Amino acid sequence: MKISKKLQDWVDDCEKLCKPDNVVWCDGSKQQLDELANELIKKGTFQKLNDSKRPNSYYAKSDPNDVARVEDRTFICSVNKEDAGPTNNWMEPAEMHKKLDELFDGCMKGRTMYIIPFSMGPLGSNIAHIGIEVTDSPYVVLNMAIMTRIGEKVLDVLGEGEFVPCLHSVGFPLTDGKQDVSWPCSETKYIVHFPEERSIWSYGSGYGGNALLGKKCFALRIASVMARDQGWLAEHMLIVGITSPEGVKKYVAAAFPSACGKTNLAMLSPTLPGWKVETVGDDIAWMKFGDDGRLYAINPEYGFFGVAPGTSDKTNANAMASMKENAIFTNVALTDDGDVWWEGMTDEKPAHLIDWHGKDWTPESTTPSSHPNSRFTAPASQCPVIDPDWENPKGVPISAILFGGRRASTVPLVNESFSWQHGTFLGSATSSEMTAAAAGTVGQVRHDPFAMLPFCGYNMGDYFNHWINTGKKADADKLPKIFFVNWFRKDEDGKFIWPGYGDNIRVLKWVFERLEGKGEFIEMPYGKVPAKGALDLSGLDISEETFEKLFKITKEEGLAEVNEMREYFKKFGDKLPVELTAELDSLEKRYSAM
Ligand code: OXD
Ligand code: MN
Repeated sequence: MKISKKLQDWVDDCEKLCKPDNVVWCDGSKQQLDELANELIKKGTFQKLNDSKRPNSYYAKSDPNDVARVEDRTFICSVNKEDAGPTNNWMEPAEMHKKLDELFDGCMKGRTMYIIPFSMGPLGSNIAHIGIEVTDSPYVVLNMAIMTRIGEKVLDVLGEGEFVPCLHSVGFPLTDGKQDVSWPCSETKYIVHFPEERSIWSYGSGYGGNALLGKKCFALRIASVMARDQGWLAEHMLIVGITSPEGVKKYVAAAFPSACGKTNLAMLSPTLPGWKVETVGDDIAWMKFGDDGRLYAINPEYGFFGVAPGTSDKTNANAMASMKENAIFTNVALTDDGDVWWEGMTDEKPAHLIDWHGKDWTPESTTPSSHPNSRFTAPASQCPVIDPDWENPKGVPISAILFGGRRASTVPLVNESFSWQHGTFLGSATSSEMTAAAAGTVGQVRHDPFAMLPFCGYNMGDYFNHWINTGKKADADKLPKIFFVNWFRKDEDGKFIWPGYGDNIRVLKWVFERLEGKGEFIEMPYGKVPAKGALDLSGLDISEETFEKLFKITKEEGLAEVNEMREYFKKFGDKLPVELTAELDSLEKRYSAM
């Protein structure tokens, strides 16, 4: 393997600090990955699933205290506190380094240190970037091998080039005769980013975004800083290709908070005949301007780390097919025949399961069999509707950007922004009911601007400015058009009004038509919405009255939202772009004139 001096020096430093018993470079070979999986089986971390049902797939259950991203333990340690901004936890970098040096000192004793060279994005793509994760968790290695492109081939591309160093430990050294456990982790957790150094240190958790450092830590928090400095966009967005019955294809990127249906939209099975949706990515988009002035996106990831509960052949048959084999399941339930199950997978519940705590479970049980944030890790290449250009190093040209949240009221099914600036305002105004993806109060509405609240690696006010400036610098005709959607509006009885899932193609169809300069609309104070009859409702049992409910915001509700936003914007002080205040003022005027 070709290892640059800079890389070897850093790995040596990690070894000196963490004091592992062994050091292993991950070459990405199947043989090495199989050996690791076998080791995890011996340790009790992994259980092999029934090969005839789910070939080459594994089951793991985590420590019950290590089940989600820990936002309150996540830090942006920029040199100046102001650069972390009001939405991030901050600590002075030298102080944090001191703390981490103490925590990491000897943290891998009795364990093996694995070095994972990984590429975020197709190898060699101009939009891609390389990281090196050093970890003491073989579970992390096996997940990273699905979620990113790893191994020797990455080092070949890296050569002497720049990489993002990502150091991870579960924080459970095997000292003083301490026995290992099936899911080692620590009560002390630190997920730390140094934006100026472009480095990541993660301690104490082995779960998801806390530990698979290519995903949220690199591809969003550190990459958002790189994107600001270099004039591109790193976003919490899925990417899909949509083809009309006439054979015209357009790509759309869409930002939704965690566990709000990005994977479902990315793999949507359209209910309207003749329409086709193909997946480029389900969670993250890196977008850079091409020579032609258009924005091109890649999916920096190589797999899906999807929320299992609620995923079924009815809601997302393509996700189900993606995880048919070569997959890892974490914190779901085990069936008696050695396969997996979770709430919502089938209408009929199995008569008996082993739940995510390892206990017997029957339909009479009062707790769910699977943790609400249980996950599947599956190779993107196995998705039946993966886009032919998903690995195109040039990326795919983006024609529209959608923002959305999970909101029971006062947010319409769809509206189109009046301009990029107004679209930026809509992005900044995204709020959503919290889900189990992060530790916290599920259901509580919180502001989640651009669905980036937990993922923006710098001052959110500067991030808003970056979006405004991106629009100013670009050729307005070539920029994607911006829309806002909400599939989750409820009626007075608390029932969802819109069917969602495959029927969301009806909304995408109107978006598509708007991009072509067709698609009739009317103007509401908050944006452009489909004119009567412009949204294809054929075959749907939705009355006109119900349909109107999907778009209704009264003057009082609208003005209340304006006031609430004005209060929220105060948080950003003088970092708030004047353009966003201007958008809020205009919105207020439009509501007042209603
Ligand atoms: C994710 C998340 O895992 O957003 O994608 O939490
Ligand atoms: Mn996500």
